[in-house]
Amino acid sequence: MISRQSIDAVINASAIDEVVGDYIALKKRGANLLGRCPFHDEKTPSFTVSPSKGIYKCFGCGKAGNSVSFLMEHDSLSFADAIRKLASKYNIVLEEDNAVNSEAYNEQQRKREALLIALEFAKKYFVEQLYTEEGKRVGDSYFRERGFTKQTIDDFDLGYSPQAWDSLVKAATSQQFNLDHFVEAGLIKQREDGGYFDLFRHRVIFPIHDLTGKVIAFGGRQLVKDEKSPKYLNSPETEVYHKSHVLYGIFQSKKTIKQVNNCYLVEGYTDVISLHQAEVKNVVASSGTSLTEGQIRLVKRFTDNVTVLYDGDAAGIKASLRGIDLLLEQGLNVRCVSFPDGEDPDSYCQKLGSVDFKLFLEQEQKDFILFKADLLMQGIGNDPIKKTEVLKQLLQSIALIPDALKRSAYARECSRIMDADEKLLLVEIAKIRKQKHVVDDQVLPTDVVEILQMPTQLPDTSVYHGGEEQEKNLIRLLIQSGHKPFQEGTKVSDFIFKELNEDDALQIEHPLYNKILQAVKDQLNSELQMDEQFFVNHEDESIRQLAADLLTDFFELSPAWSDNGIFIKTEKENYINDLQSLFLFLKKNKIEKMIQNNLDEMAKSELEQEQKEQLLHYHIQLIEVRNAISEILGSTMN
Ligand code: GTP
Ligand code: MN
Repeated sequence: MISRQSIDAVINASAIDEVVGDYIALKKRGANLLGRCPFHDEKTPSFTVSPSKGIYKCFGCGKAGNSVSFLMEHDSLSFADAIRKLASKYNIVLEEDNAVNSEAYNEQQRKREALLIALEFAKKYFVEQLYTEEGKRVGDSYFRERGFTKQTIDDFDLGYSPQAWDSLVKAATSQQFNLDHFVEAGLIKQREDGGYFDLFRHRVIFPIHDLTGKVIAFGGRQLVKDEKSPKYLNSPETEVYHKSHVLYGIFQSKKTIKQVNNCYLVEGYTDVISLHQAEVKNVVASSGTSLTEGQIRLVKRFTDNVTVLYDGDAAGIKASLRGIDLLLEQGLNVRCVSFPDGEDPDSYCQKLGSVDFKLFLEQEQKDFILFKADLLMQGIGNDPIKKTEVLKQLLQSIALIPDALKRSAYARECSRIMDADEKLLLVEIAKIRKQKHVVDDQVLPTDVVEILQMPTQLPDTSVYHGGEEQEKNLIRLLIQSGHKPFQEGTKVSDFIFKELNEDDALQIEHPLYNKILQAVKDQLNSELQMDEQFFVNHEDESIRQLAADLLTDFFELSPAWSDNGIFIKTEKENYINDLQSLFLFLKKNKIEKMIQNNLDEMAKSELEQEQKEQLLHYHIQLIEVRNAISEILGSTMN
C-alpha cells in the first residue's frame, strides 16, 4: 500500500505535459498542447493536453484523464505502478507498506534513492559546518557580510564546505555510507591511489532544491579569488539533477509565484536570496545559463507572467534577448527590467532596501516590446534603414506569440511605438509565421491544424454550398495529387475524405464531382494506383472527360493561392499548400455563412436575455475563428 500522502505528492508533482510529452510530440495550441492521439489511429491531431488543468482529452476517441490515467492506459499499468513510475520520474520517495518488488520499482529507482540520501546527508553536513569554529569564521561571516540574515540562511539551507581535502569523505565514511553515491553526485572523487577527496572545498554552499524541496545538487562559491578554479562550482548532471529542467529557488518561491501570478527571473543564486529577504518571494534563477524550454515549462505550471530582471550593459542584454523569444514562444507574457550599470538584482536590492527596491521594480518594468524597442533603438538616431531593421526584429518576436489576439494587440502597440502602419505589420507577421512553418514544418502547420479543427467543433447551423470554382479546385487536386503522400502514412485523398466526412457542412454539390469522389472511394482499399491515369482512362466517359479537362487547364487555379512566392518551392510543397489553402477557403466560406445565420438569429425580437448572450458569445467565437483563418490566408491573398 502506498500512503495517501505519497499519492498526493506524486499527483501534485506530476505535470501532464511532461508525462504525455515522454510519449508523443506535443505542439502548442493556445493555452493547451496538441498531438496525435496514442490511443487511436489518427491523421490530424486531436489529442489535447491542458497543463493548467492537468488533464488530457482526445476529441477523436474520447479518452480523457490525468497523468496517472494516462500511464495506466498507455503502459497498461496498475494504479500503484503508475504512481511508482511517476514517483521515480519526479524523484519522490514513496511511503509504502510491505513494498513489493514491482517492475517499476527497479534498480534505477533504488539508485535514485541512494543518490538522494547521499545528497541529503551532504546538505546536512554542509549546514552543520557553518556552526563550527572554521565555519563561523569563514562561511557564516561571508553570508553576514552579504547581508543575509539567520532566517534567510535557514530558508535556503545555506552551508559551508571546509578547507580540508577530505572532510566530507571522512564524515560519510564514519557513517558507513557507500562512497560510490557521493562520487556519482559529484561531491567527491577517487584518486589514482584509491583514496577519495572532496570536490567542494573552502566554499559557501547553495543547495539546489527540486519542486518538492529535496536537495538534488549544489552550487558552491569561492571565498578567495582563484583564477584556477571557477567562481561557482556546480554539481554535474546526475540521475536526479537535470539542469535544463531546474530553476534555483522554485521550491521556496512557487507558492508566492502562484499567489501573485507573476515570476521574476534572475541570473544568480544570490539574486534569488536577496530578493526573498526583501519580501520579493516570487523569484527564480536560471543559474547563469541561458534559459531552456524545460525551465520555462516549470514556471508555466505556476504562472503565465514572467518579469525578466537583466543586469549588465546593453550589449550583454542584447546577447540574451533570445530568452524573451523562448518565453513568448511558450505563450508567456513577458516584462523586463534592467538595472543601473554595475548593479545586479542582489546588489541593488541590498542597496535600496525592500521598500524602494519594490518601487523600483514597479516603476521600471516595461512590456517586452517597449523594452526591446528602447534597447535596440539606442544610438541609431533617425536612420530609416536601421529603424527598419529594429522593426523587423520586433516583428520576429511578436510572430512567435501563439495567441492570435495577443499578436494583434502587440502589432498595434508596435505600430504605435515605431510609428508604422498597423495593417502592414500584421501582414508582415503573418508572412514570418508562414515562412517559419514552411521551413521547419513540412507537415501541417499547427495553426492550420488548429483552424481546420475548430469549425468542426462548432455546432452546424448551415449547410455550405461550395461554389463550383472551389469544388472544381478540390477535384483537380484529387485527380492530380490524390495518390501522393500528405503526411507520413497518409495520402492526399485520405485527407480530403476525412475532411469531407468530419464536416457534414462541407458537401460537394456538383453531381459529376460527386461521381469522381465515389469512384475514388470505391477503389480506396484496392491496390490500384490512383494517379492521373486512373481518371484519364476511367471506364466512365464523363470522368475521363472531366479528368482530361481539369488536367489541361492547369493555370486556372485560383490566383489567390496559386501565384504565391512563398509557397512555390517544390511540387510536393505546392500541392500540400494548395490543399490546405483550399480547405481553409471552404471553411472560411462556411463560417461566413454561420456568422450571417447567427446574426439573423440575433435579430429576432422574441429572445430571452440569456439566449441573446449565448448568441453573442457564439458570434464572437465565430469572428475569432474567421479572423484567424483570414490571418493565415492573409499572406496568400495579398
Ligand atoms: P556574486 O558574485 O556572489 O554576487 O554572485 P552573482 O550571482 O552575482 O554571480 P555572477 O553574476 O558572476 O553569476 C551569476 C550566476 O552565474 C551565479 O549565481 C552562478 O549560478 C553562475 N555562475 C557564475 N560564475 C560561475 C562559474 O564560474 N561557474 C558556474 N558553473 N556558474 C557560474
Ligand atoms: Mn552579484
